[in-house]
Amino acid sequence: MRQTRSMTGRLAASASRITAKQAAMAAGVAALLAVAAPARAQEVHDHNLAPYTIKDYAIDKSLTGKPGDPAEGRKWAITSGQGNCVICHRLPIPEVAFRIGNIGPDLSEVGGRLSAADIRMRIVNPKVVNPDTIMPAYYRIDGLNRVQKKFEGKPILTAQQVEDLVAYLSSLK
Ligand code: HEC
Repeated sequence: MRQTRSMTGRLAASASRITAKQAAMAAGVAALLAVAAPARAQEVHDHNLAPYTIKDYAIDKSLTGKPGDPAEGRKWAITSGQGNCVICHRLPIPEVAFRIGNIGPDLSEVGGRLSAADIRMRIVNPKVVNPDTIMPAYYRIDGLNRVQKKFEGKPILTAQQVEDLVAYLSSLK
């Protein structure tokens, strides 16, 4: 009887230790989330690139101040060295059907799923949305690794090309 009581006491003591540890962990996670969540808008000034503002994992405003041209965007999506999104994504572009990849999600109806602001963020710098993504950041100079000499100090796409792609993808519904 005595033994049982003391065992119960030990169990209760270890249970309260776990609880305290779990509580500390939960507090740590909450603190991390508070840091990770971009509650405030974040302004990005990356060298000579057009500045932009990230809010809620999206970039609301056009980088050029104007809407892009969807026909041009369709062109960049299949042009090697200028986007070439089809090496990873399905797009409704029959002339390149033979070389379309499926590493990334199917973008055939992406305009019905994501806003232009979401799509712009994904193209400019998808690492903001998913730090582990293998998708390249197309409008970024800071933080790029192993850049070939001829591309140093230049983004993969111009602001105009990003906007053309945003216009093209937004039209896919
Ligand atoms: C090397 C492969 C690769 C290339 C090239 C690539 N992407 Fe992606 N993309 C991905 C992957 C993988 C994802 C899935 C999300 C993630 O990894 O965060 C993705 C996600 C996306 C999304 C979000 C889709 C959704 O349904 O959530 C959009 C939009 C997008 N990519 C557009 C583009 C555009 C436009 C281009 C060309 C300028 C491009 N991608 C080039 C791999 C790629």
